[in-house]
Amino acid sequence: MRHLITLAELSSAEIERIFSIAEDLKAKFEKGLREPILPGRVLAMLFEKPSLRTRVSFEAGMAHLGGTAMFLGQEVGFGKRESMADFGRVLSEMVDVIVVRAKKHQTVVDLAGYCSCSVINGLTDQAHPCQTMADLFTIRELVGKLEGHTMAWVGDGNNVARSLAIGCAKVGMKLVMATPEGYRFDDAFLTRLKHDVPNLDLTVTDDPVRAVRDAVAVYTDVWISMGQEAEEARRKRDFADYQVNAALMSHAQKGAIFLHCLPARRGEEVTDEVIDGPQSFVVQQAGNRMHAQKGILAWLLAAQS
Ligand code: CP
Ligand code: NVA
Repeated sequence: MRHLITLAELSSAEIERIFSIAEDLKAKFEKGLREPILPGRVLAMLFEKPSLRTRVSFEAGMAHLGGTAMFLGQEVGFGKRESMADFGRVLSEMVDVIVVRAKKHQTVVDLAGYCSCSVINGLTDQAHPCQTMADLFTIRELVGKLEGHTMAWVGDGNNVARSLAIGCAKVGMKLVMATPEGYRFDDAFLTRLKHDVPNLDLTVTDDPVRAVRDAVAVYTDVWISMGQEAEEARRKRDFADYQVNAALMSHAQKGAIFLHCLPARRGEEVTDEVIDGPQSFVVQQAGNRMHAQKGILAWLLAAQS
């Protein structure tokens, strides 16, 4: 059974295949065509944290594909009413695919181990693979090709950054991260990264100007992720020099793209001027969550049958 937990489980060719399905479905969608290629297929969504983009993009995407998405609320008692093994085995009898947004990464790994249907990671503290697929798909649309280009990450070495590192390596992009000490990838993750994507070309610096200089895209995310609210004061201090503003963007290439997974905390990691400016493609990027995930769903469910 194929799952999507970190992105490491997909080969470069499979990622390109998903992009090409997504591209085709998006082109049809823009012409008003919603091809029902997944009739009768059912997606269950289980979320332990808030979401706008991930929830709505999966639900709308599944509707376009002729399937059904069901959002499982508190009453299913995930983690409370019965063992995770019973939960996963029973849910797998009824649905074809489950999207899980979990506080702890291990929850998604454990659930996938019990499920006989596909499990997709809809964000954990460690990973956000669906986000990376949409991010790379967006650059592919805007730039034409990914291989050989450089991505700049400015900010926290968080879940979004971790998945981006895997994704960049899979598509042959270099990643330059401007991240303060204490917020960089830890040794355990770096060891796994070297094992999963040995070709990763990663540079880490504390200088945001150096990071953006050769980048085709400048990417940032919030300094305080969901669940880190207690660290707000310290994080705001530590990331104060890592804001993506007009001064920083002036050091990037002329046509550099600005990306943000959203939601943004405007005035913290990014200024209004940049996120609302001509180099910003954050709305297209967010819209591409749905298109990229339609590609993921179509590919995963075809792989099941
Ligand atoms: N980018 C993203 O995953 O957004 P949501 O938290 O709104 O799903
Ligand atoms: N790093 C952020 C991403 C939100 C989509 C968080 O985990 O809250």
